[in-house]
Amino acid sequence: MNTYIRSVGAFVPEKRVTNNDLSQIMDTSDEWIKSHTGIENRHVAEKGVTAADLAVKAAKIALERGGLSAEDLDMIILTTATPDYIGFPATACVVQDKLGAKNAGAFDLVAGCTGFIYAIDNAKNMILAGTAKNVLVVGSEVLTQVSNMQDRDTAVLFGDGAGAVIISESTNEESSIEHAILKSDGSGAEVLMRKVGGIKYPFVDGETTFNDTALYMDGQAVYKFAVKVNTNLIKELLERSNLAIDDISYIIPHQANIRILQAAAKRLKIPIEKFYFNLMEYANTSSASIPIALNEVYEKGLLKRGDNILFTGFGAGLTYGGTIVKW
Ligand code: ACO
Repeated sequence: MNTYIRSVGAFVPEKRVTNNDLSQIMDTSDEWIKSHTGIENRHVAEKGVTAADLAVKAAKIALERGGLSAEDLDMIILTTATPDYIGFPATACVVQDKLGAKNAGAFDLVAGCTGFIYAIDNAKNMILAGTAKNVLVVGSEVLTQVSNMQDRDTAVLFGDGAGAVIISESTNEESSIEHAILKSDGSGAEVLMRKVGGIKYPFVDGETTFNDTALYMDGQAVYKFAVKVNTNLIKELLERSNLAIDDISYIIPHQANIRILQAAAKRLKIPIEKFYFNLMEYANTSSASIPIALNEVYEKGLLKRGDNILFTGFGAGLTYGGTIVKW
C-alpha cells in the first residue's frame, strides 16, 4: 500500500508589509533585507487572528480540492510555533471543532520549521498502520505576533500564513510518499527559541515583558547549521532513493533565507533553478512555508502526477528533515 498527497491548500492574510514599510518603524532598509535574505514582503494577520483561524481556511481549500468533507478526516496533525494556547489545549483541537471534523483525532506536533516534514511522515505511517485513512496535515503560523519589533535581527524575517495537505491511501502506483529523514540536535535548543512563558523560564508577575516571550534567534548559528543540514539532506535523500537531481522536478525547501539555499546548491553543484522559492513574497512562515510553496506550485499548474518533489526543512529544536514525494 502507498500513501499520497491527495490535495493541497493555503491561506495567507491579505495585509502585506513591504521592506520599505518596516524601514519606517525600525533601523533597516529594503536593500539590507533583500541582499541578506531575499525577502521583499511578508503577509501579516490582524491582531486576534490565530493559527487556528488561518489553518481552518487552508484546510477547507484542501478538503474541497480533495473531494472530502471534514467528517471524512480521521486525524488532524497541526504544526505551529505560535499555538493558540500555551501547552494545551492543542490548536489542532480548535481546528477540529471549527471544521466540524467530528470523526477525527487531533494533536499538535512541535518540531519548529521542520514540523511539516515530521507531520507528513507521521500521517503516512498512521495510514500504513491502519490507524487512519484520511489525515489533514496543516502548518499554521502567526509569527509576526511573537516578533520583537525592537529586534531588527529577527523582526524583518517572519510572516504569517497556513498551508494544508490531505494525506490518503494511494490507489495508483505513480503517487507515493517515500521514506523521510527526521533528525534533531537539541544541543542547539537555545539558538532559536521563545524563552519565557514555559515552566523553565516562567512569567514573573510585574517583571516579564512581551519581548521576553518573543522569538529569539542567533542568526549566524542557525545559518551555519542550515547550510550544512540542507546540503546533507539533499545528498542523502537522493542517494537513498537512487535518484539523480535530474529526476527531481522541484526541491521545495523551508523558505527561510535564499542565501542558505544558494550556498547548499553551490556545494552540491545543483542549479538554483531546481529550488522553488516564494520567500520573496511571504518571508519565513516557519512550518507553513513548505505547504504554502507547494500550494503555489500546484496552483501554477507546474505539477503532474508522478513528478518527484524533494522537501527539506530545518528549524527550532534544532530539528531538520526531508522527504521525497511522488506527486
Ligand atoms: N537591517 C539592517 N541591518 C541589520 C539588520 C536589519 N534588519 N539585521 C542585522 N543587521 C546588521 C547587524 O546589526 C550587523 O551590523 P554590524 O556589522 O554593524 O554589527 C550586520 O547587519 C550584519 O549582521 P549579521 O548578523 O552578521 O548578518 P548576516 O549576514 O549573518 O545575516 C541573518 C543575518 C539574515 C539573520 C542570517 O544570519 C540568517 O539568515 N540566519 C539564518 C536565519 C534562519 O534561517 N532562520 C530560520 C530558522 S528556522 C525558523 O524558520 C524559525
